[in-house]
Amino acid sequence: MTKQNLHLYLAAPRGFCAGVDRAIKIVEMAIEKWGAPVYVRHEIVHNKFVVDSLRDKGAVFVEELAECPDDRPVIFSAHGVPKSVPSKAQARNMVYVDATCPLVSKVHIEAERHHKNGLQMVMIGHDGHPETIGTMGQLPDGEVLLVETPQDVETLNPRDENKLAFITQTTLSVDDTADIVAALKARFPTITGPHKEDICYATTNRQEAVKAVAPKVDALLVIGAPNSSNSRRLVEVGAKAGCKYSQLVQRANDIDWRALDGIKSIGITAGASAPEILIDEVINAFEQRYDVTREIVETAVENVEFKVPRQLREAV
Ligand code: F3S
Repeated sequence: MTKQNLHLYLAAPRGFCAGVDRAIKIVEMAIEKWGAPVYVRHEIVHNKFVVDSLRDKGAVFVEELAECPDDRPVIFSAHGVPKSVPSKAQARNMVYVDATCPLVSKVHIEAERHHKNGLQMVMIGHDGHPETIGTMGQLPDGEVLLVETPQDVETLNPRDENKLAFITQTTLSVDDTADIVAALKARFPTITGPHKEDICYATTNRQEAVKAVAPKVDALLVIGAPNSSNSRRLVEVGAKAGCKYSQLVQRANDIDWRALDGIKSIGITAGASAPEILIDEVINAFEQRYDVTREIVETAVENVEFKVPRQLREAV
């Protein structure tokens, strides 16, 4: 049977960011240094394939510090943790390594600086996401008010309308966040904050690449986990940029081929926690079914790299 033609647009940048790369290295180096098991509080990054492969090497994933024994090292995930977590680890004399992405730590520092200056914080983020929990947990209860939509801004009840600053989750939709920032500035003209928002370079670049791909394709496939904030945003950005049909898939097995029936072009991207091996797997699956021509749509070149913490650099 002759295969149908399919033009495949591959978004660039896509997949792993520097923070994810660093967090995975931290777990691998910790296992090398201290031997297995090394405990990891929360999925180190939101990707099942990554988590499973680290588990095979000797990582034990738990949700809370209370599940870790005192005498084994524990690693905190890339999303960041509330201040109470390292404090409890210290109180128990545990060895711990913080794999919080430096761009998330930067937001933590921003929040503390504003707090010291007497400002109450407004955080733009997703309720319940570990990064939001970690960032809000840098300050005492009640010091960070959470907003998820421009409508939430209308019902905010700050201590003093003239003493406010805002921070954001790093993996939000750039355009939706701009709307929320505009609503905040309209209601609280003296609010202070970052130049635009705290969305990281990787989130911004992946969304830009999707915007370039989406109008060209019949369908868009985003490789990423359902609990990965930045991957879900890529699906939304694709839809807003004109792509009528998108799927979020963890790997090739998840592809709903029936829904793709009759397409002539496909766009492929991946969230910041999805490894390139899964992207290759998905592309191979298309090549088995179609006569594929590939085109890379590159909107930025990334060369960001973060060092692992010194306690691992020196020892391994
Ligand atoms: Fe960091 Fe952004 Fe990746 S905050 S973990 S570089 S998605």
